[in-house]
Amino acid sequence: MRKVAIVGVGMSKFGEEWGRGFRDLIIDAGKKAMEDANLQGSEIDALYCGTMAPGPLIGQEHAGALLADWMGLNPIPSTRCEAACASGGVALRQGYLAVASGAHDCVVVGGVEKMTDVSGPDVVSALGGAGDQEWELFAGATFPAIYALIARRHMHDFNTTEEQMASVAVKNHLNASKNKYAQFQSEITIDTVLNSKVVASPLKVFDCSPVTDGAATAVLMPLDKAKTICEQPIEILASAQASDTLSLHDRKSLTELNATKVASKKAFEQAKLSPKDINLAEVHDCFTIAEILAIEDLGFFKKGEGAKATQDGLTALNSQISINTSGGLKGCGHPVGATGIKQAVECVWQLRGQANGRQVKDAEVALTHNVGGSGATCVVHILKK
Ligand code: COA
Repeated sequence: MRKVAIVGVGMSKFGEEWGRGFRDLIIDAGKKAMEDANLQGSEIDALYCGTMAPGPLIGQEHAGALLADWMGLNPIPSTRCEAACASGGVALRQGYLAVASGAHDCVVVGGVEKMTDVSGPDVVSALGGAGDQEWELFAGATFPAIYALIARRHMHDFNTTEEQMASVAVKNHLNASKNKYAQFQSEITIDTVLNSKVVASPLKVFDCSPVTDGAATAVLMPLDKAKTICEQPIEILASAQASDTLSLHDRKSLTELNATKVASKKAFEQAKLSPKDINLAEVHDCFTIAEILAIEDLGFFKKGEGAKATQDGLTALNSQISINTSGGLKGCGHPVGATGIKQAVECVWQLRGQANGRQVKDAEVALTHNVGGSGATCVVHILKK
């Protein structure tokens, strides 16, 4: 297998983008990545794009072909990747495998979702398809409700408190306030979270990631070629993916995501690194409890200690480990199919030293963690300067 590097990245502003459609968002992100890589469209061999639910959300399927067409990349092969909220991470992994295997020399990976063109209930219904439709959504268990069950069990087993979960949101909104691409640009307090409307107890509005429009892209090449065209190629040291049961009731534990544990173990083995080598991580905080599970399952903190570690500031910018410097899904926004690529874009900016007001000092190694559904898919990548 060849070593693979990221040579260009770009993203659209995340938020409620009333004036821009699905195509505008991905073209914006794609153009920025191509300019960043200083490449022409004619040099691209293949496109992999993550998008979760363009059918229910904008009435559009066959997104791979649409995107190649609108990005001016015809007739290269263009493939849509779908793995719920991990669609972007899976697209990155497919692009990585295509370059590593020698099948393609220059690949664009992207992620895009346009979520605000339909009503709130329609978004909830589309997102619910990421879980077990028959056993969960049909019985009324929306995504906030599923994560609320996980949160309750974590509170029961480890004395995790609502204040500790709120501290995840406070940190991530603070980081987002330093990121011009983020949906939310203002700081919040613990009281903002605790006093916000209950969505599915104990989760309140500010424990949830929002509904977001956005796109992100990256350009991949073999590392040796990347070094000849790019001053700061970022190597993908590891790429791993794992699966778990779709529905919660089939799991042995409600307080860990086994797919995260399996994928991260494989990724650390491939990179020949351990959790203590990671300077920053973009983890899948679709709800505040999800970030707590992630930092435990990835091995940054022991099981049951993630909530206190967050409250104690150990995951803040430039602390023990900087978690979700972009603002995460909570503060930067969660256009579901785009999130896995946006996580890589943030890591590339950090490793190049281009993260402006939120730069992690001496960042050398970064990790991305992208989850589909309530943990049925997990994709982990490790990136190195
Ligand atoms: N965090 C912070 N603020 C939020 C927010 C969130 N998650 N969601 C909405 N808001 C803000 C809006 O910006 C708006 O502010 P404004 O009045 O200043 O403009 C206000 O709250 C009302 O927005 P609205 O869109 O009417 O909220 P809502 O009550 O319809 O939706 C949620 C709130 C939490 C239910 C919705 O964001 C949601 O479903 N999130 C979860 C998405 C999800 O499940 N993703 C997949 C994860 S696996």
